[in-house]
Amino acid sequence: MRKDFGARTWFYPLPVLIIASYDEKGNANAMNAAWGGIYDSNRVVLSLSADHKTTENIRARKAFTISFGDAAHVAACDYVGLVSGNDVPDKLKKAGFTTHKSRFVDAPVICELPMALECRLIKINEDGNIIGEIVNISADESVLGEDGLIDAAKLRPISFDPVHNYYLVLGEKVGNAFQDGNALK
Ligand SMILES: Cc1cc2nc3c(=O)[nH]c(=O)nc-3n(C[C@H](O)[C@H](O)[C@H](O)COP(=O)(O)O)c2cc1C
Repeated sequence: MRKDFGARTWFYPLPVLIIASYDEKGNANAMNAAWGGIYDSNRVVLSLSADHKTTENIRARKAFTISFGDAAHVAACDYVGLVSGNDVPDKLKKAGFTTHKSRFVDAPVICELPMALECRLIKINEDGNIIGEIVNISADESVLGEDGLIDAAKLRPISFDPVHNYYLVLGEKVGNAFQDGNALK
């Protein structure tokens, strides 16, 4: 037997994207977004409410970074999703996050979160969704594996579980993509 739950915004896995941006005066801000993902090759889409400080910032500076929330910073990642930079200008400081300017786009990179996509705004589409181009991906050495690439087991990115409002940790390898299915050919 299957149980029906009706129309809900339930999806696995939902990311915990920490979107960082500068306002017109150069103040850094960040928010938590679960509704976002890859839109096309080298492009991302974010579904952000128009009244967020982040949305205003991205419109003004035409750039943003996306860091992946990780297990080491759960409370800070949640906090930036609970309060607005419109009300708390030093929100990042309260979260315990520091930033440096991206070398590639006009947006801050959160130093404490080890992996970031550095993006330039391409457009805001007719539904108000933000489309960005990934200009660079940077990662702290601490999350690199022996092959020099990002090791998810070291990064420990978290996922938002919309069914129970939990954060779950990712990282366990259970297979090889584009390979394991060959066994069934
Ligand atoms: C788990 C989680 C996921 C969220 N996902 C989104 C989202 O996808 N889109 C959105 O507009 N707001 C989302 N929010 C709410 C914003 O992060 C929140 O309103 C934040 O205060 C906006 O900050 P800002 O005004 O400083 O930009 C989410 C919050 C949490 C805790």
